[in-house]
Amino acid sequence: MERAEPMLRVATPDDASRVEALMKESAAVLFPRYYDERQSASAVRYVAQIDPMLLTDGTYFVLESDGQLVACGGWSRRDRLYTGSGESEDDSRTLDPATEPAKVRAMFVRADWTRRGLGRRIVEECEAAARREGYRQLALLATLPGVPLYLACGFQPLEEIEVALSDGVRIAGVSMEKAIDPLEGANNTPEVGRELFQPLAVGGLRR
Ligand SMILES: CC(C)(COP(=O)(O)OP(=O)(O)OC[C@H]1O[C@@H](n2cnc3c(N)ncnc32)[C@H](O)[C@@H]1OP(=O)(O)O)[C@@H](O)C(=O)NCCC(=O)NCCS
Repeated sequence: MERAEPMLRVATPDDASRVEALMKESAAVLFPRYYDERQSASAVRYVAQIDPMLLTDGTYFVLESDGQLVACGGWSRRDRLYTGSGESEDDSRTLDPATEPAKVRAMFVRADWTRRGLGRRIVEECEAAARREGYRQLALLATLPGVPLYLACGFQPLEEIEVALSDGVRIAGVSMEKAIDPLEGANNTPEVGRELFQPLAVGGLRR
């Protein structure tokens, strides 16, 4: 049966439970292709979790087809790098567009909708939105299933790291970054030699 072309919209707090269901459905199928059984179970529990801050900020997107959510993902002007990183005082701090990278967060595509360009579409939407707010860089911590998508979208891998989830189970990830092409006419001289990540990422342990 022909499936309707998914439509992109900004997610709202009312979408929270449906978004989280989509994340978990996607992760339950796709994580075991890269992580062992225990790691996958922990990642489904702690990584595939909605971050309400993204919904209230209006920086999270969903793609809907025939009334069903088939993909989600977003970006953040806040300091939290990934869901499941534990709580930190700085999580809700607003990043400075001139000197700090906006974060790309929580990309999930339903397994039967992968490799159709939906992930890329959301990443492009995130980049455009961050650019409009004056950000010059994007940064993220990719789970292993996410790495090919981000490479295809022009991100550079910085470092392979291991993160501890809330139950102590460790999973491999890759910190990545991408320079955002400036808006026409904007003064976008990049900062040089800046540290992109908190000790969490470079040290490989939870804050
Ligand atoms: C990562 C994920 C979001 C990718 O979504 P997607 O919609 O399948 O990605 P796209 O179709 O937009 O892929 C764009 C390009 O990325 C690359 N790519 C994406 N997934 C890939 C894979 N599994 N293997 C190889 N290349 C891949 C390809 O170059 C692809 O272009 P192509 O299909 O024309 O070759 C999806 O696999 C997913 O939900 N994974 C589980 C959750 C997760 O790990 N998310 C990342 C959190 S950081």
